[in-house]
Parts: sequence; C-alpha cells; structure tokens
Amino acid sequence: MQNTRIGWVGLGRMGTPMSQRLIKAGCPVTVYNRNKEKEQELINAGAASAASPMQLMQRADVIILMVSDDAATRNIFTADDGLLAAAVTGKIIINMSTVSPDVSREMSALCDAQQNCYIDAPVSGSVKQAEESQLVIMAGGEETAFLQAKLVLEKMGKLVMYMGEVGSGNTTKLAMNTLLALQAQGLAEAAVFAQKHGIALADLFTLINNSAMGSIFLKIKGDAIAAKNYQPAFALKHIVKDLQLARNAGLQTPLAETALKTFSGAESAAGESDIIAIAKELGLN
Ligand SMILES: NC(=O)c1ccc[n+]([C@@H]2O[C@H](COP(=O)([O-])OP(=O)(O)OC[C@H]3O[C@@H](n4cnc5c(N)ncnc54)[C@H](OP(=O)(O)O)[C@@H]3O)[C@@H](O)[C@H]2O)c1
Repeated sequence: MQNTRIGWVGLGRMGTPMSQRLIKAGCPVTVYNRNKEKEQELINAGAASAASPMQLMQRADVIILMVSDDAATRNIFTADDGLLAAAVTGKIIINMSTVSPDVSREMSALCDAQQNCYIDAPVSGSVKQAEESQLVIMAGGEETAFLQAKLVLEKMGKLVMYMGEVGSGNTTKLAMNTLLALQAQGLAEAAVFAQKHGIALADLFTLINNSAMGSIFLKIKGDAIAAKNYQPAFALKHIVKDLQLARNAGLQTPLAETALKTFSGAESAAGESDIIAIAKELGLN
C-alpha cells in the first residue's frame, strides 16, 4: 500500500489536511483542485498536480474525492475531462465527501460499468481530527474493494468501519450529522437562554463540560461561542445540505424538521461561518 499511487480531488478545509496526512505517511500523491491556487500547499509538501480529474484517474490506483456535495461529485465523475472520461479499469474510487446515498449508488453503477470500484467513505471529525489522522470513517460498497481501500483510509482515521452495501456509509453519516445539528442548536439555545438571564457563558460551559453531557464537540463549540469565533471549521451551509439530504432520504421527525428550518433560515446570513454561528443567529450577543 505504501506504493499505491493516490489521486486526490478536492483541497478544501478537509481535503487539504487529509491529503497531507497521506503524503506524510509516504504515499505518492497527485492532487487536482478546481481552483488551482489551492494545490500549491500540497505541491510544496511533495504532491504532483494533475490538469484534470481524467488525468488523475490515468495516473493513480486509488482516487479519493473530498468535495462539497452531490453536484460536485457528479461533475468530477461525468464532466468531459472527468474521472470516467479516462476510460481505464481496475481503479478504486473512494468518495469521502458527505453526499447522498443516491449519488453514491449512481456513481457506483457508472464505475461498475467500466470495471472500477466505488466506495462511499464519509468522515466524522473536523479539521483538527483531519490534521491528526483521528477521523472516524464509515464506508459502504463491495467488501473486497473496501478491504483494499481500508489500508489507505486507516492512514487518515482512528476508526474505519464497514457499514454494508454502497450508500450505507452516506446514510450512517447523515444519521450522525443529524445528531450534530441537534447538539449545535441545543448548545446555542442554552447559551441564548442563560445569557438573557445574566448567567456568565464561561460558567455555563464549565458546568456543561464537567457534567454527563460534556463532550469534545460541546467543549470546542462552547469555546468558540465564548470567544465569538465563528471562523468556519465546518461551514453552516454544509449542515443545511446534510439535513436536506437526510430529509430527502426519509428523515421527517420533529427535531430534524426543526433543525432544517433553523439552519436553512440562517444560511443566507451565516452560511460561510461555522455551524455554531447559529448561536448568533438565534440572538446571542
Ligand atoms: N469541514 C468539516 O468539518 C467537515 C467534517 C466532516 C465532513 N465534511 C464534509 O466534507 C466535504 C468537504 O468539506 P470541506 O469543509 O472541506 O469543504 P470546502 O472547504 O468548502 O471545500 C470544498 C471542496 O470541493 C470543491 N468543489 C466544490 N464544488 C465543486 C465542483 N462543482 N467541481 C469540482 N470541485 C468542487 C472545492 O473546490 P474549489 O476550491 O475550487 O472551490 C473544494 O476543493 C463536504 O461534503 C462536507 O460536508 C466536512
């Protein structure tokens, strides 16, 4: 696996540190990003650059995508210079983006037709976990291909779990991000309520962190609220996408519906800010 040639598509907040980890692990990595300026950091770290996803597909054995959404995924596979235009066989394509199970099934069928394998392998964890190879990864797809993909995925995560047929990783990820949205909104509402009654937020967060509710997520987001730091680690627009994907996949329960409404309502003002900017949008000073 050390000599497996990796092709990486998508150098955003997550893709950059994740691909860096593969370079650090000694893998030969070629990168492609739509905005070519973002490739420079990886080239400086030792990566090669491909002119198109098609060229990347020709040069790599395992191709990994970490892009925004379904539209970006479709584009990278099916554009005139997309992955499938390479018309090669025997590749493993791992989509680590948070996308719908439907788009994974669709891309998997296209890959099968060319005798390539598609694995959906979204991640839980954010930029810090990506930088430290501490992501939690959930994967779907054909099991033999998964076992090969796992050798690469393990270089980026602390846990890699096989969830079943293609799309299972995506469905699992949408379940987890629904809980993430509810926790973010819950923390924001608790903070708004406490502040309105003159309770010091720092004290509230100290109590939460030391209670049975304390978690890494609530600690990081409490610290961000206290520092009024809404710089995006996980952009609010991405949780709107995920809640919408979960709804499209059949999740229409009371809290999920409320969260979708709340985060969608905040998207025009705070879509590019972090998910926890929902606190500001709900009235936190
Ligand atoms: N950030 C997190 O904490 C986090 C955690 C877990 C999962 N995720 C998921 O991981 C994925 C990436 O998140 P991120 O935070 O890294 O996003 P990001 O910083 O917004 O980066 C998005 C990447 O997708 C590319 N892209 C978007 N539309 C494209 C298109 N039509 N064609 C080609 N490339 C396109 C962008 O290219 P350009 O540079 O050219 O725009 C960029 O490389 C998302 O699905 C997100 O939900 C994020």
